[in-house]
Amino acid sequence: MKIAILTSGGDSAGMNAVVRSVVKTGILKGCEMWVVREGYEGLVRGNKEYRQATGTDSPPLTNESSQIPPVGATGSTLNIVNSLRFGDGDLLRDGTGDYLGGRTLKGRYIVRVGWDDVRGWFAEGGTLIGTARSKAFRTHEGRLAAAHNLVKEGIDALVICGGDGSLTGADVFRAEWPKLIEELRSQSKITDAQASAHAHLKIVGLVGSIDNDMSMTDMTIGAPTALHRICEAIDNINSTAFSHSRAFVLEVMGRHCGWLALLAGVAGGADFIFIPEQPPKGKPWEDEMCEAIQHHREIGKRKTIVIVAEGAIDIELNPIKADYVKDVLTERLGLDTRVTTLGHTQRGGRPCAWDRILPTLQGVDAVSALLESTPETPSYMIGVRENKITRVPLMEAVEMTRAVAQAVSDKDFDKAMSLRDPEFAE
Ligand code: F6P
Repeated sequence: MKIAILTSGGDSAGMNAVVRSVVKTGILKGCEMWVVREGYEGLVRGNKEYRQATGTDSPPLTNESSQIPPVGATGSTLNIVNSLRFGDGDLLRDGTGDYLGGRTLKGRYIVRVGWDDVRGWFAEGGTLIGTARSKAFRTHEGRLAAAHNLVKEGIDALVICGGDGSLTGADVFRAEWPKLIEELRSQSKITDAQASAHAHLKIVGLVGSIDNDMSMTDMTIGAPTALHRICEAIDNINSTAFSHSRAFVLEVMGRHCGWLALLAGVAGGADFIFIPEQPPKGKPWEDEMCEAIQHHREIGKRKTIVIVAEGAIDIELNPIKADYVKDVLTERLGLDTRVTTLGHTQRGGRPCAWDRILPTLQGVDAVSALLESTPETPSYMIGVRENKITRVPLMEAVEMTRAVAQAVSDKDFDKAMSLRDPEFAE
């Protein structure tokens, strides 16, 4: 099997570990491994620019030994995970993303890779193969070009690591695949033999997102690292807040999901937390917040921390903004208040241990899922439930995630919380 992997949407710590795990596992299981640079955009662009510039197809791997797995590696998950531990950091070195393992990649978006190309990637932040939010892939023409590029390289299976939008795109692509192939064949862009060899596209998704906003999995790749970064920031702010007896309002990422805000609030000792799925109910939230913080001050707290998820809303679905929260604290409680927006410091940087372990284990299962895939099996999302790596139909997870957003816009906040976390309902 020829398998390609791409990362899509917002980057997250652990995406490189996914690429490394999938590439090495694929090699160990006898597959030919490829990466697609710049997400779906790279799939649409393919290697045409490179062929035009050089008059040649993709050059071969520089190092044949890159295909040879370490001694003792066999097909069991444990052995594969054991053998993945080797690697000492043979990275994209020039920082422009145009080189991989010493090979120039200019104009090439779909690149065959070997064992050495992904050495040490478990410890690198962001995504070394690049990511993009591709407009072209949302069009039929774009997906047709993407299908053509995959057939040209002989690739018949795709691993996508991204958020719910990216995974939906993957499933649309798979559903449309037979039509795309027929279109390419009828336009004589591919031969009858190519059309029958590529009758089906196998797809598997892994969830890479700092937001932890995907249903049917306990954790998305990158969320633990982002949470850790936020906790460190709160620790830093706590000491300066304490010194001046100040209040701080921290805005954290998470899009429409409050997981980062909620967990950071618990881990960092926040006084009040605003999340999209559970706006303060009953009295005006300004009163509720001020009463709680006033009480904390009366019992001796010298500092105040309020966390606002970037998607926080009130009961009427109006956004709650950090600057407004600051004004309320200043005017009503007379607190000397500052706003800190953590921004992309939450997203970048080296992955924590869990964001190396989870993608490594999930990467191993992603390759198994592809090897076991038939035209009848759904595209799977590899998740984790109660510490076990799981497979669920990708579209079920995406639909469940959408149902949370629907419940919020219907103001059914208890339903939103129970869809996010079934235990909340009990
Ligand atoms: O989905 C990840 C995320 O970091 C969100 O938390 C945030 O809303 C968004 O991406 C920011 O996107 P961008 O990097 O395009 O500004």
